[in-house]
Formats: sequence, C-alpha cells, structure tokens
Amino acid sequence: MCGIFGYVGAKNNAALMTLEGLKLLEYRGYDSWGIAVKTKGKLVVDKHTGKIGEAKTVLPQSTIGIGHTRWATHGGVTVKNAHPHMDCTREIAVIHNGIIENFLPLKKDLEKKGHVFISETDTEVFAHLVEEYRKTEPFSKSVRKAFNKIKGLNGIVALDASADEIIAAKTGSPLIVGKGQDGYYIASDSSGILPHTKELLFLKDNEMVILGKTFTLLSLPNGDRLTPEFVKVDWKIQDSTKGAHKHFMIKEISEQPKVVRNIAENYHDQIENLARVISIAKGTFFIGSGTAFHACLVGTYLFSKIVKKHVNTAVASEFNYLEHFLNNRSLVIALSQSGETIDVVEPLVRAKQKRSKVFAITNVLGSTIYRLADYKMLLGAGPEKAVASTKAYIAKISLLLLLSYAMIGEYKKGKEMLLLAADEIERLLREEYIREFKKIATVLNKTEHIYTIGRGFSYPTCLEAALKIKEVSYVHTEGLAGGELKHGTLALISPGTPCIVFAPQDETYEAIISNATEIKARGGVIIGVSPFRSEIFDYWIEVKDIGDATLIPMAIPAQLLGYFLAVKKDLDPDKPRNLAKSVTVK
Ligand code: AGP
Repeated sequence: MCGIFGYVGAKNNAALMTLEGLKLLEYRGYDSWGIAVKTKGKLVVDKHTGKIGEAKTVLPQSTIGIGHTRWATHGGVTVKNAHPHMDCTREIAVIHNGIIENFLPLKKDLEKKGHVFISETDTEVFAHLVEEYRKTEPFSKSVRKAFNKIKGLNGIVALDASADEIIAAKTGSPLIVGKGQDGYYIASDSSGILPHTKELLFLKDNEMVILGKTFTLLSLPNGDRLTPEFVKVDWKIQDSTKGAHKHFMIKEISEQPKVVRNIAENYHDQIENLARVISIAKGTFFIGSGTAFHACLVGTYLFSKIVKKHVNTAVASEFNYLEHFLNNRSLVIALSQSGETIDVVEPLVRAKQKRSKVFAITNVLGSTIYRLADYKMLLGAGPEKAVASTKAYIAKISLLLLLSYAMIGEYKKGKEMLLLAADEIERLLREEYIREFKKIATVLNKTEHIYTIGRGFSYPTCLEAALKIKEVSYVHTEGLAGGELKHGTLALISPGTPCIVFAPQDETYEAIISNATEIKARGGVIIGVSPFRSEIFDYWIEVKDIGDATLIPMAIPAQLLGYFLAVKKDLDPDKPRNLAKSVTVK
C-alpha cells in the first residue's frame, strides 16, 4: 500500500502541506516519495528515493498539489519509478495505490500511438491513458474514461496543468476526502487529513470526486452525480503521532492497557450482538492474515474451551481454496486491523457472492472490509502506525475472550478478566521489567535462529511471538506447537539456540515444560514465560496467572523482545524492510 495526499484550495503552501501529509502517511510505504504542484500554468515535480523522514521541499508556492510515498510493486526503487508519474506533455501528474492488472496491453497500445514511457511502473500507463482521452474530452471525463479502462483494485489521484482541480477515483484502495475551511484534502488514510479537518468522506468503490472551488461526487461507471455523506470524526491527531516515544511500536505497546480497558467497559451491546449473529449461523469461519490470523486461531481455541463450539479458522489467503462449502447460512468473521488487506477482501467478496453473512472486526472506520461487511465492529484501538501490529492484536483477542464468555451468558466474568489482563499488561510495562526485557534482548542479539513453543491457547501466542520478533529484528524466528518439536524441528536445536517457552498455569503446563527439557538437553537456552519460575528456565519472564485471560498479557513479552532487539540492531522497528502496514496488493 502507499501514502497518498492532495490539497486544493485558498492556501498557497500546497507543497509543504503535502510533504507534511506524506510524513504522517509514511508508514504506508517508504521506499521513495514525490510531490507535484501546479504553478504559473505548469506542473512542477520533486521526487526522491528513500524515506521521507525529515525531508524539506524545494517546490514553489501553489494552491494545488498531490504527493505519494511508495511501496514498490512494479519496478525497482528509483527516482524514475517514484510517483507522481506524468504523460508525454508533462501536463498531467498521477499518483496511485494498487495494481493496474492490465497495464501491459494498455502500455503496448499507447506505445503504438507514440507514447514514450520513462518508468517501469503500471501507474505511468494511467497518465498516458488520460493524455490520450484528454485530446477530445475535458480532464475529469478523461480520468473517468481512463479509470474505467483499467482492471484491478486501485486508488488514483490526478492533476492537470490546465485545470485548478484534483480528480480522484477508486475501486478497492482507500481514499478519504477532507472538507476544510480553506479547501479540500484527499489522502489514503485519515491521519494525513486530521491536522486540517475532521469532516471526512470515505470514498466508496466505483466513485470519483472532482475537488476544486467546488466539490463533485460522481459514479465512475456512468458519471451520474451522487450525494456526498461527510462524517465528523472525533479522532485526535496526537493519536497519530509518536508523542514522547521514540517509535510508534513502543508507543502502541504502551497504549495496550487503555485499549483492553476500553473494550471491557464499552463493548457490551456490540459483543452481545455478535454473539447473537454467531448463534444463528450454520458454520462460523474466522479469517485473517498474519497477526490477525493468529488472533483468529486464539478465537478457535477460546470457542472450543469456553463455548464448546466448533468454529473454523483459515489463513485469509488460503480461504479462497477452502470456501466451496459456504452457503447463505454461513458466517465469515474477518479480522483485519487496516480493513484493507487484499487477502481478506477477496475471499469476503466470494463469500458474499455465496450469500454468506460477513462480520468485520477492524480498526479503520470506512475501510474496504468495514464497508463490505453486513455487520461491523471497530477495535477502538486508535490509529496503529507501526508495521508490527501490537495493540490491534491485543484488542482482537480481548474482544474474542469477551465474546466467548458472552456466548455462555457470563459477560460480567469476561469483563472482569479483561480488567485483570489490563492490570497485568501495565505491570509488565513498568521500568523494572523493561530492564529485564532489554537484558534478554541482548541474549537474543547473539543468535541467528530463535524458536518459540506453546500448546493450547499458547500455540497462537507462540506463532504471534515469532512473527513479532522476526518482522522487526530480521532474526529467523520459528513458532511451533510444543507437541510438534519431536516431529522435526528438534533437529535444529544446537548448543546456545534460544527458545521462548510459553508455560501458563493451565492444562498444557507439564507437557510444555517437558518439551523445554528436551530442548535444554540439547544445549538450548530456555526463556520461560510463565507464572512460575521453573529450574529448566535459563531466563524467566513472569506473567501472572489470570485464568483464561492469561493469554492476553502472554503476548506482551515477545512484543517487547522484538522491539528491543530491533533497536539493539539499529533497525527502525516501525518500518521494517520489504513490509508494509497493510498489504493491499497480492
Ligand atoms: C503484523 O505484525 C504484520 N504486520 C502483518 O502480519 C499483519 O498482521 C497482516 O498484514 C494483516 O494486516 P491487517 O490486520 O491490517 O489485515
């Protein structure tokens, strides 16, 4: 996914506003960036590779500008491939989020018509397509016709030297319009707009807007005018900045007690509604990707143990191959922090084609998955900017624990357990424990391979722990069910190999300690996460026993170990190489 920002209005610092807007969206893509503004009837473009960081802009004053931070899909990380992309006349500038699936045949056709391309990107094709239509149509109609020619899930914003307007259109990639006192803003995430206005319009698929002195919302297929529905959000901009923290990741880790308490106190009606929807469904499926999948897995174990109900879980990208049996009685519950993950969007579209009901649990109002769903629930975790998901994961598993207890008529017990979990997370975040985590991160800093094991509730916990550590520290980390150790992975244990063992006070304790003993016997270094210190542990991280809810604070140690390991390695934990905050392309 990429960062998109644009402004048109009375203010003449469009370039600076665009640069600052892109900095707020940098988490969405950070391998290159660029800005285009209009001045004296011409477009002026400034493009760079690398992170936008503390960049300054050299562009002239202007009342209209667009900008983009890129997460490369087509074409390497070069200035030529950075957005905005232009047509042959250099009168049209385009920025884009998504993949134009039919860009090659379109490019060949345009080259036959004499168009000359300078980048390897799919996006540049759109600029030349608009140029072609522009020969006979006004700018806005050219953009609409060009957009109807391309295939795939895309969000596009275009500027034209001859018009004081920004045109934007989308199918699948998010675009949000902000209505300010001094003009209109457009961005791929509301955090870019919040410093200017809280009156937002979440563009729906197959819609386009013309932003200028006036505002026009059109249907992409036929150009009909549509009635805009602006909403006033109460989000605070500081939710989107690092504040006193060095990185978003540690800030978001520190917000987790508040996130859990919010769910404990304010979700009664929503949880009871979800419980009702599940109870009438014939077959419930949890789907998610990455961390969200791990939360789905937690849901399956919670429903089995507490609700005595079978729910299926699938990795979202695999659900495309596992949903032949969906029908109009099925319920698909999609977990997604961003609400934009293409691997979740696609199976949901297919599920709806089979008339299954879709329940979205996401963190972003107006996101694609939020809008696709028949029922919706927001995580209420506040903007999560670090690529490594922490507070959104804790929010998901907290909701699922509360839901499990609601399903057996013990909502109050679930709420009390969440409050205990929030207290335990808060305890783990105290300075005296942070020092311990930093020490253990030093131990992990000497190894190339780390293993995490758990059983039952701790199986998804160990998978999530492995993901957290590997994605920010780049150290190979493998999570596996404790019972699987002897079926192969034990062969990889050698003297000094660290293994994080999740040993809560539950039915898995003896068996997982025995697995730890097998690792220890081969020279492995055991980092025990448990309410009790066992003599098998070389290092012990205490996580107090709070019954089934122990699984919530059990997720904190790996978040902190991953964070401190990344910092020790001088890496940026917020923006790991090759990754993006939300994977909106396959
Ligand atoms: C989590 O730390 C990873 N960044 C990644 O696995 C993420 O969970 C996954 O891409 C799903 O994102 P979503 O929750 O926004 O759908």
